[in-house]
Amino acid sequence: MRITLKINLLTTAWMLLILILINIIVFILFMKTTVNMEEDAAYQKAKDIIANLHDNAAPDQIQRELTNNLTVHSYIRIVQPDGKTLYEVTNEKGLSKKIKGKFVSTQEAERRALVLEKKEKQVLIVRVPVKDVPDLKGSLEIGEELEGLETRKDILLWILGISTLLAVILSLLSGRWLSNIIMRPISNMINTMEDIEKSGVPKKITIHNETKDELQTLANTFNRMIDRLEENFEKQAQFVSDASHELKTPLTVIKSYANLLRRHGLDDKEMVEEAIQAIHSEATRIQKMTETFLEVASLEKDIELEMNVVNLVSLCQSILKQLKQVYKREMILHFEQSPILITADELKMKQVIIILLDNAMKYSNDKIEVFLEKNDQNAIIRVKDYGIGIPQEELENIFERFYRVDKARSRETGGSGLGLHIAQRIIKLHKGEINIQSKEGSGTEVELLLPAR
Ligand SMILES: Nc1ncnc2c1ncn2[C@@H]1O[C@H](COP(=O)(O)OP(=O)(O)OP(=O)(O)O)[C@@H](O)[C@H]1O
Ligand SMILES: [Mg+2]
Repeated sequence: MRITLKINLLTTAWMLLILILINIIVFILFMKTTVNMEEDAAYQKAKDIIANLHDNAAPDQIQRELTNNLTVHSYIRIVQPDGKTLYEVTNEKGLSKKIKGKFVSTQEAERRALVLEKKEKQVLIVRVPVKDVPDLKGSLEIGEELEGLETRKDILLWILGISTLLAVILSLLSGRWLSNIIMRPISNMINTMEDIEKSGVPKKITIHNETKDELQTLANTFNRMIDRLEENFEKQAQFVSDASHELKTPLTVIKSYANLLRRHGLDDKEMVEEAIQAIHSEATRIQKMTETFLEVASLEKDIELEMNVVNLVSLCQSILKQLKQVYKREMILHFEQSPILITADELKMKQVIIILLDNAMKYSNDKIEVFLEKNDQNAIIRVKDYGIGIPQEELENIFERFYRVDKARSRETGGSGLGLHIAQRIIKLHKGEINIQSKEGSGTEVELLLPAR
């Protein structure tokens, strides 16, 4: 069942229930007060008649007095203490026949349902003792059909019935209107989602009017999610295209050397040597590159770090020792206290420091300095070189994937523009910060801030 229909039916059923309850109460109260009023009127009439009997107690006068007070479908009688009827006038024989006379010493009223002329009729009977009338002992009894009451009851039932029906119709209509208002944004969302499912292309929900309600929040959240999805799709596509582009150059070199060998054979020793050298170095480059690509891809996925206590001083000492041996460059480590402890994934931290040192070596020829410090919040690592530096306007781009300041120069140095991007991702995973300061021609300083233990 559709949710709109459900809301509609439920609200209507609930309203119908309330209305029926109210109608019953109204009906009962109305009937009670009307009957009470009729009773009061009948008592009053009986008392008036008795008052008149005081002055005119002769039998024909009594008969006349009683007749004068007859209303349609009624009888009036005087009943003796022994139960015998002394006087009776009536214009509804059936009525007076069915109700036996009864003597009372205190006044009483009674309501009866009788079948008269094959129809059920409500009858009101009041009995009032006659006192202080000479030669007359008994009680006065008036019985009359409550005809007005019947018609009024019918009218009331009609009014209540019709107004209930009207209320139900109105409730159904307004319920439809209301649930449409509520459901429109939801249907809108469902349509958009179905579109996305069919086409496979992320699509946003169009928001017609700003309402600031839960549905609007839902739509906004959905749109934000789509934004992120689109961003990720784009990033992924960009990465694939950048990566294939990067792989193209070394592959072209390998292919052209292979062609050369195929055309000229293996006789020219010198050329063969050169080709093998080139093919080997380009293949190594491709191998390194694919490793880096995999690294970047894994870092994009918020990987789990193996967090341990790491002493930055000993870590840097061992890295510098290794690099100095291999590259024969002057590298100096400065620190004023030891140990400097952080909680980190040691291998990843080592990778970041090597990325920075590798850049410093590639883009400078002078000495390289590493400073280790610590303040209340952070452990700080600074890698400083005195090389070519980075132009101010390029500083904001160098963390982007595959970004290199000078493409031609970087080809010679063999970079792929992923080092700083990887370093930044790793530092972010450690909830740290990476800043870079550089002056073209005089050098670069990269600063890592890591939460201290
Ligand atoms: N210490 C530095 N001195 C001068 N330029 C630098 C320095 N570090 C980075 N750069 C510039 O920033 C660019 C991006 O650096 P990044 O480390 O991300 O890539 P890469 O060194 O070119 O390649 P990869 O590190 O992937 O081998 C470099 O190409 C270089 O132009
Ligand atoms: Mg680099």
